Amino acid sequence: MTTDAVIEALRNALLADPSNHAVRSHLAELLVGAGRDEEALEEAAKVLAAEPDNIGALRTAATAAAAAGQASRAAGYARLADALAPGDGGESHHGPGDFAMVVPDTAEELLEGWVESEALVEPEIGRLSQATITLSGVGGLADVKRRLELSFLAPMRNPELRVQFGKSLRGGLLLWGPPGCGKTFIARALAGELGANFYEVGLSDVLDMYVGNSERNLSSIFDAARRNRPCVLFFDEIDALGQKRSHLRHGGAALRGVVNQMLAELDGASSDNEGVFVLAASNHPWDVDSALLRPGRLDRTVLVLPPDLEAREAVLRLHLRGRPTESIDFRGLAKATDGLSGADLALACEQAAEAAMEASIESATVRPITQHQLAQAVRSIRPSIGEWLETAKNYAMYGNDSGAYDELAAYLKRRRR
Ligand SMILES: Nc1ncnc2c1ncn2[C@@H]1O[C@H](COP(=O)(O)OP(=O)(O)OP(=O)(O)O)[C@@H](O)[C@H]1O
Ligand SMILES: [Mg+2]
Repeated sequence: MTTDAVIEALRNALLADPSNHAVRSHLAELLVGAGRDEEALEEAAKVLAAEPDNIGALRTAATAAAAAGQASRAAGYARLADALAPGDGGESHHGPGDFAMVVPDTAEELLEGWVESEALVEPEIGRLSQATITLSGVGGLADVKRRLELSFLAPMRNPELRVQFGKSLRGGLLLWGPPGCGKTFIARALAGELGANFYEVGLSDVLDMYVGNSERNLSSIFDAARRNRPCVLFFDEIDALGQKRSHLRHGGAALRGVVNQMLAELDGASSDNEGVFVLAASNHPWDVDSALLRPGRLDRTVLVLPPDLEAREAVLRLHLRGRPTESIDFRGLAKATDGLSGADLALACEQAAEAAMEASIESATVRPITQHQLAQAVRSIRPSIGEWLETAKNYAMYGNDSGAYDELAAYLKRRRR
């Protein structure tokens, strides 16, 4: 089919089912692609009237408005999309930002709310956003939540208890575990629990080839965090600081400087870190520089394991929200997906949605996502955490003298049964 034919088919489908926002959103995208900006804008605006937080429609509307010469309207849409789904770079998938928001009735109201809320001070490095999810949006993982509550949130919320028990507010938290299992997601939810801004920095954004620049980058990051407090400052891939020197272009000496700068910032040596909560994440905790894990620094560690049954069900529900589906046996799907990560599950939903979209286009009517399509998608996916588990097993077996990997060892043992 040519694009024009697909556009026609979608328009017909919408005549039959005008409230299908997923299809209308897709139509708007195709219209932008075909250079029909005014029409695209009209369709995207219709979607936004019903779903003001639809990221895909916001991105499309931004592109269409810009192309149609409506610069300020375009900027408004883009700002909103960034606020709701920081860093998704304009893809139209459903990310963690698009739920659990207090959703106003119209796009106009939403825009107003955004303009009125206190502006964030944009940092040069990393991404700053307002946290919109809380731990209740994280499915399952009861253990992790309890640990976070005890070690982090309760002391944060109860200053008197802190004093009585002599617990300090200093120090941070390292989330570790296999890829795609919710570390970033949980960090963002912690920021939401604390009512804090969420400032996410990839360590690779910090490291710079030129000696001295990495240190300057780090200190400007901590400055930005302090200017936006209360703030959860989240360092992803923290292991990049401790990786075997030969893996890096930078050379050992330069890296040492960065670690030292990080330690100084964490210790609050030169300034006051009140209201800045440092979290970090790593898939390779065995590579994390041990100086970073000493008391007062990232001294609490929480293992985030692959999603349990509850969590898998939550992830599936989350990723099918707002999409047309027939009635789905979520529990059954969750049972059939042991060993998949959150990211794997998201991918399965994406594939099922594509299959349904294809069927809709072929039949020129809206076909909801079916149980069968989901089951098929789920079956086609190879668990992405197998390799990680292999590596982790070695550390649990041969590198666990300190007991640091006890929890992991217990998990591996449970799995084998
Ligand atoms: N317990 C959960 N409840 C709801 N959604 C989840 C859960 N765990 C994972 N997800 C979903 O899976 C996606 C991937 O998780 P996330 O990006 O947080 O993984 P990660 O551990 O940070 O991975 P990486 O190590 O690759 O950075 C999330 O965006 C979220 O949609
Ligand atoms: Mg992550």
